[in-house]
Amino acid sequence: MTSAIRLGVNIDHVATIRNARGGTYPDPVAAALLAIQAGADGITAHLREDRRHIRDKDLERLRAEIAAPLNMEMAATEEMVNIALGLRPHACCLVPERREELTTEGGLNVAGQLETLSPKVQKLAQADIRVSLFIDPSPAQIEAAAKTGAQVVELHTGAYAEGKAGELERLRTAATQATALGLEVHAGHGLTFENIGPIASLPELRELNIGHFLIGQAIFDGLAAVVQNMKRHIAEGAAL
Ligand code: PXP
Repeated sequence: MTSAIRLGVNIDHVATIRNARGGTYPDPVAAALLAIQAGADGITAHLREDRRHIRDKDLERLRAEIAAPLNMEMAATEEMVNIALGLRPHACCLVPERREELTTEGGLNVAGQLETLSPKVQKLAQADIRVSLFIDPSPAQIEAAAKTGAQVVELHTGAYAEGKAGELERLRTAATQATALGLEVHAGHGLTFENIGPIASLPELRELNIGHFLIGQAIFDGLAAVVQNMKRHIAEGAAL
């Protein structure tokens, strides 16, 4: 069964594992190619200010080696805007970023920084980059997002994923409001096999961006085969 909803695979945590050893393995670009082969519609990578997972070189390689759309997640800073203008990814998703956070906690406060955000959105859009704003499903944020000139909003599904009451309804209302204002609707954060169904049923939804669960689940879906393979290599080595 296929769906009209695009899946963007976030490969940040392949880089997290690589960086834990300081070498080049596992390569996030190789993981991106595998995800595309498996049916992913695009690749998402977050270049954080502290470069804790994806690094500048990874993005350059993703841009050069992957034909599928690249979605660069980034903070709305001058540094990141300049990198994006040089890289020219298919899309940029502007996210809030705090150094000490473990992941992107909460959406971007677009309503509270309309004047500083809008010129950045427009600069990126003029370079033919599709701009998406990662926001909580709140009417005020959606209204503000439309005013910036962004083409897309990505609705933060973190509270929904944590089981907060009423969140699915908030997301449903937000998706309808955003579409009525001419914004394309994406969603992401904390999505898993168990909680994706109701989100995928939102009629306005065009794209999902998923990372942590996919990389984590790859361990459980792949570890048994890798252990068996290693046992075979050991046996072959022992027989020499
Ligand atoms: N979308 C955005 C804008 C994000 O910042 C993140 C987390 O990096 C995701 C989607 C993916 O969230 P998760 O890793 O929980 O699937």
